Amino acid sequence: MTLFEVRDLRAGYGKVDVLFGVSLTASKGELIGIVGPNGAGKSTLFGAIVGTVGLRGGSVFLDGEDISGKRPEDIVRRGLSLVPEGRQIFSGLSVIENLTLGLTGRRDKHGEKGALERVHDLFPVLTTHRDHQAGMLSGGQQQQLAIARALVADPRVLLLDEPSLGLSPTVVKDVFDRLIAIAESGTAVVIVEQRAHLVTRLAERTHVLRAGKLQATLTKEDAADEAKLTAAYFGNSGE
Ligand SMILES: Nc1ncnc2c1ncn2[C@@H]1O[C@H](COP(=O)(O)OP(=O)(O)OP(=O)(O)O)[C@@H](O)[C@H]1O
Ligand SMILES: [Mg+2]
Repeated sequence: MTLFEVRDLRAGYGKVDVLFGVSLTASKGELIGIVGPNGAGKSTLFGAIVGTVGLRGGSVFLDGEDISGKRPEDIVRRGLSLVPEGRQIFSGLSVIENLTLGLTGRRDKHGEKGALERVHDLFPVLTTHRDHQAGMLSGGQQQQLAIARALVADPRVLLLDEPSLGLSPTVVKDVFDRLIAIAESGTAVVIVEQRAHLVTRLAERTHVLRAGKLQATLTKEDAADEAKLTAAYFGNSGE
């Protein structure tokens, strides 16, 4: 059953339209990829979904409920969390203080202890650095903290905007192993990713966003098809 649906979504800034009718779905436990060149509108799509960029049309449904146009904090409490591009953790605060801020996005205040335990099982390094300043962590650890901060709100749908940015291949693999585990636990995981090969190989479906529209959808089998991947990403030759 579809847990998450974006239907014909339109968004932009000022006089500029950026998204021209984007539709996608994710079911419980599915990992969905979104790839596309710089400026295609990937971050705008996530912003429009979580309520930080104004919608100009279309709808977002979570478990059948229309959440379009609701305030960002209401959307988080309903179970949709974003790990933003560039992580945006609070570098002057400790690891546990960052996680505590994430807890404010929970629907159910009783489960806080369990949520923190789950995070520490998934990212033990955050326990080791619990009281350290977040800004002192390595890039990979900061990304883990950003994911953990979103996770403690118990999202049903987790959106991640370029989680591999600036990380070495080994660390990227580590982060993606965790994302797969999160999806296997039943969360729908939607990942915007520059590393098209990587995400296409792992995701149930990978949508190609170009110029504000979904232009193609790739399957896991397409990950090995270099020509198809390149054509989908850049458009047909001659464009
Ligand atoms: N706050 C803003 N105000 C005005 N225009 C914006 C704003 N944010 C993004 N844009 C414009 O919207 C378009 C889409 O940007 P967006 O950041 O969504 O792309 P992206 O696919 O996430 O790119 P990248 O791969 O570089 O992260 C671009 O033309 C960008 O310049
Ligand atoms: Mg972006």
